[in-house]
Amino acid sequence: MAETNRAETIREAFVRKNPRSAELYPQFQELFPSGSAGHDGYVADPFPISIARGQGARKWDVDGNEYIDYGMGSASLLLGHAHPQVVEALVQAAPFGSHYGGPVEAMLEWGERVHQLIPCAEKIRFVGSGAEATMLALRIARAHTGKDKIIRWESHYHGWHDYVMPGNLPPFDVPASIGIPQGVLDSVVVLPPDLAALERVLTSDADIAAVITEASGASYGTVPLQPDFLQGVRKLTREHGVVMILDEVITGFRWSPGGAQARLGIDPDLCTLAKILTGGLPGGAVAGKSEFMAVMEQSGDSHHDRFERVLHGGTFNANPYAAATGNAALKIVATGEMQETADRMAERLRRGLGEIVDRYEVAACVYGESSTFHLFFGSRSIEGLDANALKNQSPETQKAFRQAVQVRGVDLMSRTSGVLSGVHTEADIDQSLAAFDGAIKAMVDEGLVSHG
Ligand SMILES: Cc1ncc(COP(=O)(O)O)c(C=O)c1O
Repeated sequence: MAETNRAETIREAFVRKNPRSAELYPQFQELFPSGSAGHDGYVADPFPISIARGQGARKWDVDGNEYIDYGMGSASLLLGHAHPQVVEALVQAAPFGSHYGGPVEAMLEWGERVHQLIPCAEKIRFVGSGAEATMLALRIARAHTGKDKIIRWESHYHGWHDYVMPGNLPPFDVPASIGIPQGVLDSVVVLPPDLAALERVLTSDADIAAVITEASGASYGTVPLQPDFLQGVRKLTREHGVVMILDEVITGFRWSPGGAQARLGIDPDLCTLAKILTGGLPGGAVAGKSEFMAVMEQSGDSHHDRFERVLHGGTFNANPYAAATGNAALKIVATGEMQETADRMAERLRRGLGEIVDRYEVAACVYGESSTFHLFFGSRSIEGLDANALKNQSPETQKAFRQAVQVRGVDLMSRTSGVLSGVHTEADIDQSLAAFDGAIKAMVDEGLVSHG
């Protein structure tokens, strides 16, 4: 049969450019559920791209393709991939061993840096990840108040543990995962981000220990918060004696050296940190006011220590390698220069991407705060769209967009969103905008996006 002269589809281009990734995927599928070694986000159709290395704002896959990266280690790499000072810190620490079963001085420096930068961080406890940080913060809040329930907002992401699965994905009345005990479900109140709803629950339910909020709005700002929402949460939680936990796993050190709390002037009781905290190694922390962190104190009184305090452990918490890279990263982060560049580059990218969307007259819009950007396919504005709408973009459209930009040398954090680093340059942004232009055009040509 004669070859037709039609253009290669986005999917065909993706498959053509990634033969080695395609070859590896069945091996991943043999070993790992759904072919993912560690994260549901690594599952992709027809296969995920396997990455070989990263440097600065770029990364390279196993087929040698180069990407300008807007995933940046799930937003952990504000300083870019393999920042020389972070690598040097790790190399220096490596020969001395990874665990001594006790404190090391580098932990002290690390804690001091967090204390200096993050306004609410009177006391700090390091943990193994962001999810562990939110899990511990919730336990501290329950212990401090003697109450059982927490309030969380529709669609806000705080990790994958049981307490934060209710309300994480639409439909919000069905937990994001099976396997969550009914007792846990009963202890979590999921609300739309609405201060009147919060006030109603706080007034009618005397068993609320804490309100936990993603400082950016759900999923690093995919569902933005109303202006002054955080201030409203602060006011109401204070009035009702409820602990305010600000989840700064994304915003911490990114929105400003002191996180969203410093940038927006919020005074939480506890906050959770991870990602940039460690310079990109595993780890996290709960930081907060001494009054709240006090439930972790051991007094030496055997009755108190056995029956009246929060227990906490974790083999790799505050481990020397993460302390070394965390110190190197926070030293740089403290100047604010990386955040200033990342924000400025993100602004340039959002503006350029918005112009492309306008030029092709597609039903899409671009938004985002600080060093993030989001593209929403389905409407020319997100005005009036709630979490349900913003989290319900067509999976086919999102997948096509990610693949269309990948084949043009750009990668994202999730399918239509990304984060920047302080080492992205104007040339990177302009090159990326050319890729976004080609991607949107390809989607228009394939009829994968509607006009609006
Ligand atoms: C706001 C927020 N909280 C908590 C977490 C969980 O952190 P980790 O993946 O380190 O467990 C994440 C992860 O992306 C996050 O974005």
